[in-house]
Amino acid sequence: MSQIDKVLARIDADLDNALARLFDLIKIRSISTDPAYKADCRQAAEWLARELTSIGIEASVRDTAGHPMVVGHRKSGKPGPHVLFYGHYDVQPVDPLNLWETDPFEPRLVTRADGSKMIVARGSADDKGQLMTFVEAARAYIAETGDLPVDVTVLFEGEEESGSPSLHPFLNANKDELTCDLALVCDTSMWDKDTPAISIMLRGMVGDEIIVRAANRDLHSGSYGGSAQNPNHIVAGIIAGLHDETGRITLPGFYDGVQDLPESLAKMWAELGFSVEDYLGEIGLKYPRGEKGRLPLEHIWTRPTAEVNGMWGGYQGPGSKTVIPAEAHAKFTFRLVGEQDPEKIRASFRAYVQSRIPADCTVEFLAKDGSPALSLDPTMPAVAKGQAALEAEWGKPAALIGMGGSIPIVGDFKRMLGMDSLLIGFGLEDDRIHSPNEKYELRSFHKGIRSWARVLAELAKG
Ligand code: BES
Ligand code: MN
Ligand code: MN
Repeated sequence: MSQIDKVLARIDADLDNALARLFDLIKIRSISTDPAYKADCRQAAEWLARELTSIGIEASVRDTAGHPMVVGHRKSGKPGPHVLFYGHYDVQPVDPLNLWETDPFEPRLVTRADGSKMIVARGSADDKGQLMTFVEAARAYIAETGDLPVDVTVLFEGEEESGSPSLHPFLNANKDELTCDLALVCDTSMWDKDTPAISIMLRGMVGDEIIVRAANRDLHSGSYGGSAQNPNHIVAGIIAGLHDETGRITLPGFYDGVQDLPESLAKMWAELGFSVEDYLGEIGLKYPRGEKGRLPLEHIWTRPTAEVNGMWGGYQGPGSKTVIPAEAHAKFTFRLVGEQDPEKIRASFRAYVQSRIPADCTVEFLAKDGSPALSLDPTMPAVAKGQAALEAEWGKPAALIGMGGSIPIVGDFKRMLGMDSLLIGFGLEDDRIHSPNEKYELRSFHKGIRSWARVLAELAKG
């Protein structure tokens, strides 16, 4: 048996134990955005550092101003590329909790009628299940052969889901330690359940929150209705004015740096056979809403967006209350593509909002960090190696795809450390990441582990 076959056989034999370890990690409630779970985030970091160290990747928990990072190394000057593996141990909040069929942090393995199995829990797919595919591959490699085939540094973050505020200072302060030849990132999806993928585009993001204030107190809507400003209406007008009737975003300069899809990509993606009916059908919808005259895949991969993620103001309780609220709130995010500049877009958005605030009212802005979009060169050598490894595992060539979501650190790896990334993940469209009843296919977990073992072996070939 060849060395890689032995490693793969060990992975197969150890799957139940690997699953038990993943369940232990999932049970830790590491919701990064909610301060109530600060101690849980640290606990997850400590769990990972212990786990890495126990398999032979010397790791420690590193404090930041926010949640800690985990950094580990196993290197002996091997000839192949020195790779940095990145994943995030934090998860999104679980609400609305009542829509979960079981406790989000009590992972369970569900068997479907066709025999396929899925792991249901918050973080099962995003990103604990994915991150552990790499850890388990490394474990099997070291246990079977005594070492990893290439030098490896590991970086696990605990703030990805809350905009990575500690990341820049951390990367800056630890440049030498973290700069490798290539980053491996497991936080993306496959094309479909049988077709692996390498993501070559990620959208960027910039966010803002507004609080519009009018009268100095909540008012009787009879005594003041029709006269005093209503902040709910002001916010509604701001939101309504963001798009024109063709679905285009109206902010001045918004499309600066947005390019049309190159022919070569359009052709490659047309061959993927994307079905917008299936894509929307699975979430109970039918008709795509984005800019008119664009392909459905453009809407999610290569066009920018403006979305309202939350809005509130006035009476929210049962029954009615005749009130004009003193203030109204909304949270916005813009997904960015191409060369769009997050700070310019923030400035344009704020000028637009300001222009819609009546003279006797005010607006307060609560900024969130922005990150530009990222494109990777599909001809870089690591992509070919990733493709060879994935094809060997899945029996099908990997698709080179875009991703609608954002992973801010990948751009920072490039800009701050000069390091390219190979984005390989085993999530599926219907994993319900960030939603109730998040799941990860057991097959994704198992073949994901095997895939990373193959990627490492492939990279070691030099
Ligand atoms: N893993 C996701 C990014 C992603 C989403 C990749 C969908 C592939 C498909 C990541 O954890 C995420 O959710 N990122 C946030 C970033 C934000 C909080 C700065 C996102 O995209 O909203
Ligand atoms: Mn993620
Ligand atoms: Mn996420």
